[in-house]
Amino acid sequence: MKILLAEHRGFCYGVERAVAMARGCADRPGKAATLGPIIHNPQLVARLAAEGVGTVDNLDDIKGDTVIIRSHGAPPETYRQAAAKNLTVVDATCPHVRKAQTAARDLREKGYRVAVVGERGHPEVNSIVAWAGDGTVVIETEEEAAGLPAVPRLGIVSQTTFPPGRFDGIVDILKTGAADIQVNKTICTATEQRQQAAVDLAARVDVMVVVGGRGSANTTRLAQLCQEAGSRVYHIETAAELDPEWFRGAEAAGITAGASTPEWVIEEVYRKMQEFDQAMEQEIRQIEKGSIVKGKVVRVSDDEVFV
Ligand code: F3S
Repeated sequence: MKILLAEHRGFCYGVERAVAMARGCADRPGKAATLGPIIHNPQLVARLAAEGVGTVDNLDDIKGDTVIIRSHGAPPETYRQAAAKNLTVVDATCPHVRKAQTAARDLREKGYRVAVVGERGHPEVNSIVAWAGDGTVVIETEEEAAGLPAVPRLGIVSQTTFPPGRFDGIVDILKTGAADIQVNKTICTATEQRQQAAVDLAARVDVMVVVGGRGSANTTRLAQLCQEAGSRVYHIETAAELDPEWFRGAEAAGITAGASTPEWVIEEVYRKMQEFDQAMEQEIRQIEKGSIVKGKVVRVSDDEVFV
């Protein structure tokens, strides 16, 4: 069985940077904590906690003197509260998210009503909305876009991970309702690259393994796209979930991973799949020799194998 890795997979630039910044705080264990999990990956969050960088849900729970803002960003109010508590802020907001926040704030200051095209309730979208201020709306679907009351000036920004095609469709609808419209397509290419690479690979293999946290929206999306590309798909968090039966009879298997999956988790999955493959080859060799397999007697005739 060939085991192929998607060309683009795992940590994106923003997550890599945020994790490096958080790990940089581990030289003072217990002093720094991330506000919310640094990424949607329980294994990495646990590893960071073991290194002395924990996670808190709000600033009141910080025991040390430093708060780490994750790549999703945070509302302006968080920075104000941190300053009031005399906390040092390690700001790991992804520069692409920062661009969306700034664009939203600038549009609002110029008198536009701001619409954020993205997933309602997602932490990044929440942070962008907070930067844009009161009156900002979130648009998630074409139906919502069609139902938005007309305004004279509408400014649009996108969640960085929103599918570009859907964003364009929503903007086309919104354009019909405003005389003056400003569009900021603040979508980051990392997601698109990972999705394209996953789809390309899924079309070439029998089985796709998608590695990433179950709570990670981008990993779940990768799994959906691979399924749509015609592959049998398994979404796992760690190598421990792999089952050798998934690969029986497969000629090629692919691996991809969400933007919050560390490379060491992907490597473990790759190694375990290699072990399965070697074990299966061994099993076939044993069958060919007419040996005992899994406690059953194997008899080999010229052209048949009975197990
Ligand atoms: Fe940043 Fe794009 Fe990753 S916005 S956090 S580089 S998916």
